[in-house]
Amino acid sequence: MRINPSILSADFANMTAELAKVEAADMIHVDVMDSHFVPNITFGLPVVENWRKVSKTGFDVHLMISDPDTWAPRYAENSEMVTFHIESASDPQRIIYKVKELGKKVGIAVKPNTPLEPYKELVHQLDQVLVMTVEPGFGGQKFMHEVLPKIRYARELIDQENPNCFLQVDGGINLDTISLASEAGADTFVAGSAVFGADSPEQAIHQLRAAANR
Ligand code: DX5
Ligand code: ZN
Repeated sequence: MRINPSILSADFANMTAELAKVEAADMIHVDVMDSHFVPNITFGLPVVENWRKVSKTGFDVHLMISDPDTWAPRYAENSEMVTFHIESASDPQRIIYKVKELGKKVGIAVKPNTPLEPYKELVHQLDQVLVMTVEPGFGGQKFMHEVLPKIRYARELIDQENPNCFLQVDGGINLDTISLASEAGADTFVAGSAVFGADSPEQAIHQLRAAANR
């Protein structure tokens, strides 16, 4: 069970200290938004490059942008894993190829209303499938229970096609909801407010991991 804190809930004015607080994490989840694919802007490549210099933990980049075809390889150069939304990808096959060519992990993400079924042929080539459990765009939203059947379907698909592929969930994950997602089959959990909003982010990571394992 992997816990990836989302940097979106960190204090952007103190990133060296914020990153040091979450060294118990498996990876740092880095939410890139462009105000086209989602109604919010976060940060871009130069910022990610600089944060990476001061992070001991690897980066799991979540691209919520309208042109992942152009940008996914650029972010792959500055992270360990890049996950792009299938809804905005023109040529997913090419993105997968390009990221892997750089020796990095690659994943696809689906919004709550996007079915996974049409993309099942891609699963054998992926390192991660990200099932969004909120509408992408903002931290601090409520976990959408209606997504649980899709998490179960993703688990079946991954078990059949590619058991090493991570099944990530993102949005509204906390000590109450993490067990629902893990029972449904998720093994990688993004948590923003539940980690950076806690008195001890480190303890929050350990508690979330324990709850996911239960
Ligand atoms: C939402 C982002 C999430 C977000 C999660 O679009 O992809 O990673 O930061 O935040 P919480 O855990 O607060 O829901
Ligand atoms: Zn995210």
